[in-house]
Amino acid sequence: MTAKPTNAGADGLGLGKDLTGLQGLTCEQIEGILDTAEPFKEISERRIKKVPVLRGKTIVNLFLEPSTRTRISFEFAEKRLSADTVNIASAGSSVEKGESLVDTARNLEAMRIDMVVIRHSSAGAAQFLADRIPSNVINAGDGQHEHPTQALLDLLTIRDRLGSIAGRRVCIVGDVRHSRVARSDIWGLMRCGAQVAVCGPKTLIPLGIEELGVTVLSRVEEAIEWAEVLYILRIQLERMVGGFVPSLREYNRFFGVSRARLERAPGDIAILHPGPMNRGVEIDSDVADGPWSLILPQVTNGVAVRMAVLYLLAGGSPERAESAKEAGE
Ligand code: CP
Repeated sequence: MTAKPTNAGADGLGLGKDLTGLQGLTCEQIEGILDTAEPFKEISERRIKKVPVLRGKTIVNLFLEPSTRTRISFEFAEKRLSADTVNIASAGSSVEKGESLVDTARNLEAMRIDMVVIRHSSAGAAQFLADRIPSNVINAGDGQHEHPTQALLDLLTIRDRLGSIAGRRVCIVGDVRHSRVARSDIWGLMRCGAQVAVCGPKTLIPLGIEELGVTVLSRVEEAIEWAEVLYILRIQLERMVGGFVPSLREYNRFFGVSRARLERAPGDIAILHPGPMNRGVEIDSDVADGPWSLILPQVTNGVAVRMAVLYLLAGGSPERAESAKEAGE
């Protein structure tokens, strides 16, 4: 049964009630979210990091899978917009006793919440919930499906550095097969006109990915030669059942991004990584902490992007974001 939405996004971008993925968004909508994030960046630089934009809204962060960056970033975004927030993890909640996702959400709704931010190990969990509850639902990562706010902060970081997304050459390196981040980034980058490549061991590249218009590069040296942005993915040890790579040492030898490899880049190259990093496996410390790295700016942008998404789903518009952050509309 599909519940009738009550928080049916009156945002100026037509996003609708929920944000469950980037696959269904247009470039105008994606760039509109990034534009909305711009004025919100400044709030985090103030001495008092709080504006009354979401005063009176109640948001539940339902994180049923581990997270550091996404959970804390959403919580900062919500608190900086003056929402009331509650955090729920599976440990210590009735999920441990076998309560279903929908029952958990309906009980939260009975306490009159407005939004749910959900991370779940199952692909489709966010949409499943969005179809069944009237609150706004934001996907904070669902299995191997999508992680839309991660991709939005990645796009904002690329746009900040290169001035645009269209036409830019971005290569995603590593475990593309198991990565919801890769999936959301590919949708977002392609939709906004970037050239996208992937690089990694054949076992970690999804079959048929070329049909999306993505180029497959087999050597990391080729990727470094081609790309303006190298997006390095974590080797997801927890999602690998079966031998996808012979050993981590071998992965590092053939695909690890090192200073020596980057120094052979023909031009400027920016390094992004969604975290958490396996230093010495997919990325060396010299690179993670070096002049190429935009990894911490990605984290900073995450708060502004999540503020923008919360604001838009609550009915805000990109045009009003600048005045809203001052006046708290
Ligand atoms: N990038 C990301 O999703 O990190 P967390 O798992 O720490 O939230």
